[in-house]
Amino acid sequence: LTPARIYPEIEALSSVLEERLIGRAHVFVLCDENTLRDCFPILSAACPSLNSAHMLEIDPGEDNKCLEIAGQLWSCLAETKADRNTLLINLGGGVVTDMGGFVASSYKRGIGYINIPTSLMAQTDAGIGGKTAINHEGVKNIIGSFYPPSEVLIYPGFLETLDEEELLSGMAEMLKHGLISYPPLWRELSLMKPTEIQDRPDLIEKSCRIKEKIVSLDPEECNVRKLLNAGHSIGHALESLALQQNRSLTHGRAVAQGLAIETEIAFQKGLLPQNDRNEVVSVLKEIFNPLFKEIPPFDEFLPFLENDKKNHGSTFRFSLLTAIGSAGFDIAVSREEIASGLQASNFN
Ligand SMILES: NC(=O)c1ccc[n+]([C@@H]2O[C@H](COP(=O)([O-])OP(=O)(O)OC[C@H]3O[C@@H](n4cnc5c(N)ncnc54)[C@H](O)[C@@H]3O)[C@@H](O)[C@H]2O)c1
Repeated sequence: LTPARIYPEIEALSSVLEERLIGRAHVFVLCDENTLRDCFPILSAACPSLNSAHMLEIDPGEDNKCLEIAGQLWSCLAETKADRNTLLINLGGGVVTDMGGFVASSYKRGIGYINIPTSLMAQTDAGIGGKTAINHEGVKNIIGSFYPPSEVLIYPGFLETLDEEELLSGMAEMLKHGLISYPPLWRELSLMKPTEIQDRPDLIEKSCRIKEKIVSLDPEECNVRKLLNAGHSIGHALESLALQQNRSLTHGRAVAQGLAIETEIAFQKGLLPQNDRNEVVSVLKEIFNPLFKEIPPFDEFLPFLENDKKNHGSTFRFSLLTAIGSAGFDIAVSREEIASGLQASNFN
């Protein structure tokens, strides 16, 4: 796994990128409408070779991370006669890095790609670790691959144009990284506003290193990588339900909600001490205020939980906190325990 590199100056990032472009007959840059407008001009001004790259643009939003759009991207590559030496640069948030990575992993059985993540979510989580995915038939990330980028190049300055709800979304995964393995990160973030994070590249870097360390121990998620799924069993189900109902819910907000509900489940199972449960819930409530507008009824979101890739057969398997700073994975959770955790989670 190549560690993500963080560059306070765009020129330093660009000079690395320029080197990677040498000898490439075809270079593609995948953006969404927002990153094409806000980020590409900054990058191409510092890296003039990109002005001759082929541009791929998608509409922003989670519902574009789908087979139809992936198909359009494969068609563009094929029409340009992109060969296996082609380089794809993903310039965007997690939707662009997940889908671009998936397209790269499958076009001609795999071409090289570089992630230049532009959202806080992608800089601290989605752009790192080589999981690629698209959603299918309303289920999040159900089609995908493990296919790491050759580089992850981060310029925190891109965050200046990201709106606050999206900063908050990224903050959820950073908080999760602290919660599962490094209490000082959790405690420091607990006291911060999302708009303060762009001035703290050290915290972005810490979050990357936590994820990279876990991924390097278990790249294909056979064991410890599952710890990164804390908050995601419930979070993904909430997100899939919102997607199906056409309600907007950022990935990070869904993860924060998932973390709160799963924290309650861990507490009720006797795995997590009450003090830790109280601290986790009160910090999440304070930062993601309001944490919940409403919690969907159990039977509405149960079908999405049943689709969760982390389950074995019909048993639910969650990654749950055992303390602030540690977690366990593959923990069997019953329907009754989930229903009871949900019920107790009417925190607001
Ligand atoms: N592969 C993984 O390991 C992994 C981990 C976490 C999340 N994810 C995935 O990541 C996705 C969420 O990522 P996200 O939150 O970045 O969503 P996103 O890509 O939709 O970006 C959020 C919004 O911010 C905009 N944006 C991004 N950068 C910007 C910038 N610098 N300035 C202005 N606007 C900008 C985007 O256009 C979009 O509207 C989900 O699909 C999730 O499943 C994947």
